[in-house]
Amino acid sequence: MRILITGSAGFIGFHLSEFLLKKGLKVIGIDTLNNYYDISFKLRRLKILKKYKNFKFNKLDISNKKKIDNFFNKNKIDIIVNLAAYAGVQYSLQNPDIYFKTNEIGFYNILENAKRKNIKRVLFASSSSVAGDLKKKLFSELDFTDSPISLYGATKKNNEILAHFYAINYKIKIIGIRFFTVYGPLGRPDLSIFKFANSIQKGSPITVNNFGNHYRDFTFVDDAIKCVFKLLKIKQFHKIDRKKNKYFQIFNLGGGKKIKITKLINILEKLLNKKAKIVLGPLKKGDIISSQSDIKKLKRNIKYFPNTSFEKGLKKFVNWFVNDF
Ligand SMILES: NC(=O)c1ccc[n+]([C@@H]2O[C@H](COP(=O)([O-])OP(=O)(O)OC[C@H]3O[C@@H](n4cnc5c(N)ncnc54)[C@H](O)[C@@H]3O)[C@@H](O)[C@H]2O)c1
Repeated sequence: MRILITGSAGFIGFHLSEFLLKKGLKVIGIDTLNNYYDISFKLRRLKILKKYKNFKFNKLDISNKKKIDNFFNKNKIDIIVNLAAYAGVQYSLQNPDIYFKTNEIGFYNILENAKRKNIKRVLFASSSSVAGDLKKKLFSELDFTDSPISLYGATKKNNEILAHFYAINYKIKIIGIRFFTVYGPLGRPDLSIFKFANSIQKGSPITVNNFGNHYRDFTFVDDAIKCVFKLLKIKQFHKIDRKKNKYFQIFNLGGGKKIKITKLINILEKLLNKKAKIVLGPLKKGDIISSQSDIKKLKRNIKYFPNTSFEKGLKKFVNWFVNDF
């Protein structure tokens, strides 16, 4: 069983790769190692993965069709997990070209190769950002997602539509995972948890957008990875979902609870034993005010759900941040 993970030097890709490698599975990683955030994070993750003899790495760009086709000609792959993407919301508003190229053309190249090489199982990262400014407490997979408010969200929505076509027409079992703010050790430095912890420790000011009235559904990375693994292994979807579509399904993957951003800062202050210097700012274009996942479908299908409490997850993050970063 050879599993291709694109974006393997990224935060989620690294944790998923290591989880699978520890289980003795063969993982082939692809990553461009782009500099959207400090590349040293990616090199550190890669260094850990390279210690496993069942890991192979290819520095490749998924949007380069010729090279990606060539990669699939040379490597036999059984399962694809596509995580490679530009993942920041704000950055997508300033750099639309690179988002379109990576998230859309890159993913298309992956799907074309799944079709060409008869690969029957693909998982890909979608995002809670497809929801746009949904005025609803809980966001379910059945909710309207035709109006994302960031280019990033739009590329992820387009991924879902494209994947649906490939799944139905070429009978490839495809699962789209809508991740909800994943955090944990070796996490992304462009996300709020890392930025806040870093500023609190250095004594520099934190800008809190939307005057602190943001809510996020945070998912601890180990929980997210366990869910992805269970989704990888799924033989058949639950009968309710199977009735609708046996090849293509979207799953929310979140903690299922919403946390106010100011609560996050309070917990970080306690864990770091330092006061934050808070500067309140307005809502930024493209930012969703609140996200909370309905995870009933996930529970129904994998009999598991993210259950690490936010306090416990943050403690593990801070432990890494203070001792290992
Ligand atoms: N972390 C979250 O909270 C979150 C939430 C929702 C969705 N997601 C999605 O999950 C996936 C993984 O996210 P992450 O947090 O690990 O992000 P990340 O930025 O840490 O990882 C993405 C990786 O993809 C690589 N990459 C980018 N363009 C590439 C290309 N053209 N070819 C090959 N590799 C390329 C990057 O170098 C990076 O290492 C992304 O698709 C992201 O949109 C993440």
